[in-house]
Amino acid sequence: MNQEELFKRLVSHCKEYGYVFQSSEIYDGLSAVYDYGPYGVELKNNIKKYWWDSMVLLHEQVVGLDSAIFMHPTVWKASGHVDAFNDPLIDNKDSKKRYRADVLIEEHLEKIDNKIEKEIVKARKRFGETFDEPLFKETNPRVKKYNDQRQQLHERYQKAMELPDLKELRQIILDYEIVCPISGSRNWTEVRQFNLMFATEVGSTAESAMKVFLRPETAQGIYVNFLNVQKSGRMKIPFGIAQIGKAFRNEIVARQFIFRMREFEQMEMQFFVKPGEELKWFEYWKNIRMNWHQALGFGADMYRFHDHDKLAHYANAATDIEFRFPFGFKEVEGIHSRTDFDLKMHQEYSGRKIQYFDPDDNTSYTPYVIETSIGVDRMFLQIISASLKEEEAPTAEGGVAMRTVLKLPPALAPVKLAVFPLVRKDGLPAIARKIISDLKFDFYCQYDEKDSIGKRYRRHDAIGTPYCVTVDHQTPVDDTVTLRNRDTMVQERVKIAALKEIIADKVSVISLLK
Ligand code: GAP
Repeated sequence: MNQEELFKRLVSHCKEYGYVFQSSEIYDGLSAVYDYGPYGVELKNNIKKYWWDSMVLLHEQVVGLDSAIFMHPTVWKASGHVDAFNDPLIDNKDSKKRYRADVLIEEHLEKIDNKIEKEIVKARKRFGETFDEPLFKETNPRVKKYNDQRQQLHERYQKAMELPDLKELRQIILDYEIVCPISGSRNWTEVRQFNLMFATEVGSTAESAMKVFLRPETAQGIYVNFLNVQKSGRMKIPFGIAQIGKAFRNEIVARQFIFRMREFEQMEMQFFVKPGEELKWFEYWKNIRMNWHQALGFGADMYRFHDHDKLAHYANAATDIEFRFPFGFKEVEGIHSRTDFDLKMHQEYSGRKIQYFDPDDNTSYTPYVIETSIGVDRMFLQIISASLKEEEAPTAEGGVAMRTVLKLPPALAPVKLAVFPLVRKDGLPAIARKIISDLKFDFYCQYDEKDSIGKRYRRHDAIGTPYCVTVDHQTPVDDTVTLRNRDTMVQERVKIAALKEIIADKVSVISLLK
C-alpha cells in the first residue's frame, strides 16, 4: 500500500470505528470541520490529559487557565493579527480553485527534496555499506544541480515572504512553471492577502453591535491574564500558564483530513522568564517537549526539530517539532522564544502597566516568553497514523489472515479493557458484567457479547483496545479468565482478582509521565 492509499485507509478507519466524522455529513459536510465520535472523543480527552498533567502536575511553577474564545477586538490589533495574520492566496482561472501561493512554492521545494532523496536512496543501494552520504551530496553532479536549484528558489521565496512582495511570489510561481494540480494550467490570478480570522458581532442591536473575532490562537488569552494569574497565585518568575482550547482560522487550503482545520484545538503554554534567560529556557522546553512526544514509543526517528531560519519580528529563536506523517515530515508543535513582544504590545494598547516586580533584585521588568504550542487534532492524527497497522495474524483454523490493529499507546487508548462472555448463557454474561462493574472506576471497560470471540478480538484490535478478557466455563469453577494482549495476541489465564493490578498501571497516563 502506498502512502496515499494508507492515508485514505486511515480516514475511512476513523469513520468506520467512530473516531472522526465529517461535520454535517448528512448535508454533504462542511469543509475542514470535523466531529469526533465516541472513541475519538475518548482519545482526544486522553491526549489532553497527557499534556495537561505533564505541564501542570509535573511543573510546580506551571498553572492552568481557561480564557474565553471571544476577547476585546483590540487584543487582536495589539497582537498584530488584524494587520498581519494573512496568507497570500492565488486562484487558477481555469479550475477556479484557490491556493496559498506560499504552499504552492513550498510543495515545489518538497518535490526538489524528493528528487535529491531518490538519488540518495539509489546510491545507497549501489554502494552498500561503503556509502558516504555527505560526500555523495557534495560531489554528485545531479544532486548538486538540485541543491543549487533548491537554494536559489528558497532564497527568492524567503525574501518575497519577508517583505511581503506579492508580485514576486506570483513571478516565482510563473518562473518555476508551477501548475494547478486540478487543471494542469499556469493561468494564475494576481496574489492577494487574505486575513485568516473569522469575525462576528456581539450586541443585541445593529447600532450597538461590536465586531469581534473568533480567536485564532489561545495564547493571547494567557497574555492578557498575565497580571491576574501572577498576582492571584503570587507566582514568582520563572512561571508558566497552560491552556487548552478551541481556535479558529479561515484556512484557504484546508486539506489532509484533521491536519489543517478551520476549527481546531490548541494546547499552549506560555512560560514567563527574566530577560536574558530566555534562550536557556528555550532549550529546556525543547527537550521537555521532545521527550513528551517520544515517550509514546513510536520511535525517535519519527520526529525531528526544524529550526526556523527566518524568525518572526518578535521572536529570537523558534523551532518546530515535526512528525513523519504518511504525507511526509510536518509540524505538530511550535516552540518559540517570543521576547517581550506580546506583553509590551498589550501594555501599549491597554494603557495598563504589565510588569513584574522581582523581589530577588528589586527590579521591575516586562518578562520574556517561551511558548510551546501544539494542536490537539494534529497530535490525534499523529497518534492514529503511527498506530494503524495491517499485519498477519493466526486464525483459529491454524491458517494466517490479515488483521487491522490500532496499536495505540495503552495509556491513550479509548477503551482499556473489553470483557466478553464466551456464550450468552450459563451465567457467563453476569460474571462479565460483574468484572466491568468492579473495574469501571479504574479505567474505561466495554462489554461485548455479539459474534464469535475471534470477531470480537478483531473488532477491539481495530478500536485499539489493549486488553480483552474472555469469561468461559472454567471461570465459575476457579474465578479465572483469559486475558489477551492486543499487540502480542498472547492469551494467559489469570485470576479475576488480579486483573486490576495487571492492567491499571499500564493503561494509566502516569505510566507515560514517569
Ligand atoms: N500561538 C502560536 C501558534 O498558534 P501556530 O504554529 O500557528 O502557532 C500552533 O500553531 C500549533 O497549532 C501548530 O503546530 C499545529 O499543531 C496547530 N495548528 C495550527 N493551525 C492549525 C489548523 N488549521 N488545524 C489544525 N491544527 C492547527
